[in-house]
Amino acid sequence: MSKLRFNISMSLDGYVAGPNQSRDEPLGVGGEDLHDWVVRTRAFKAMSGNPDEGETGLDNDRASVWAQTYGATIMGRNMFGPIRGDWGAEEWKGWWGDNPPYHSPVFVLTHHPHEPIEMEGGTTFHFVTQGPEEALEQARDAAGVRDINIGGGAATAQQYLRAGLVDEMEIHVVPKLLGAGERLFANLDGPPDYLKPVEVLGSPRAAHFRYVRAA
Ligand SMILES: NC(=O)c1ccc[n+]([C@@H]2O[C@H](COP(=O)([O-])OP(=O)(O)OC[C@H]3O[C@@H](n4cnc5c(N)ncnc54)[C@H](OP(=O)(O)O)[C@@H]3O)[C@@H](O)[C@H]2O)c1
Repeated sequence: MSKLRFNISMSLDGYVAGPNQSRDEPLGVGGEDLHDWVVRTRAFKAMSGNPDEGETGLDNDRASVWAQTYGATIMGRNMFGPIRGDWGAEEWKGWWGDNPPYHSPVFVLTHHPHEPIEMEGGTTFHFVTQGPEEALEQARDAAGVRDINIGGGAATAQQYLRAGLVDEMEIHVVPKLLGAGERLFANLDGPPDYLKPVEVLGSPRAAHFRYVRAA
């Protein structure tokens, strides 16, 4: 069966986004720094259409795993955009432009129904109002044998961690203190002990902690 996987950058004090997300600051105030290690890699530049640019090395190796194309992605509504409550008249289509980097179906958890949005390059955003298990079922149908990515943010990842559904997780801890924002390891009803650490790698920009589901 396909695996449910999860990659995220986290500050040293445990935040995956700063406070007060806005259109100008999708990762919240100060949150952009969490991705400093990844935006300079060759894997990230390739995703942005510049395959000959960017750094190689350890961080690029980890970014390549993160940036691969999955069979489907699940994300929370705040990862999809800054609009809260009713969708309103604006046609928000995500932060990523006409051709988002997913290239496969994306299932957005929300309490507010929305028609699917078909983008260029194979990405379609589907809006799921029946909760994380239903989103996972739809993602599994769409992905077939390929793995499914939890795209974030914190609230979404927490629900899959809490339900014991994550098969692999990689946390990229950056040496930055955010002080406030969205904590990854909160609301969990205890640590997700079914995930065991199998690898820790480090560069001056990030420590990469990889966990897999215990056999
Ligand atoms: N550091 C990283 O690598 C990384 C990665 C991904 C994202 N992020 C950041 O994380 C932040 C977003 O995280 P977040 O924790 O605020 O939010 P999130 O998980 O992206 O979205 C939460 C929202 O999704 C909807 N939702 C979640 N669970 C639901 C359920 N069971 N049923 C129905 N709707 C549900 C709700 O929206 P409604 O009630 O409004 O519909 C909820 O407020 C962003 O700033 C993003 O940029 C960081």
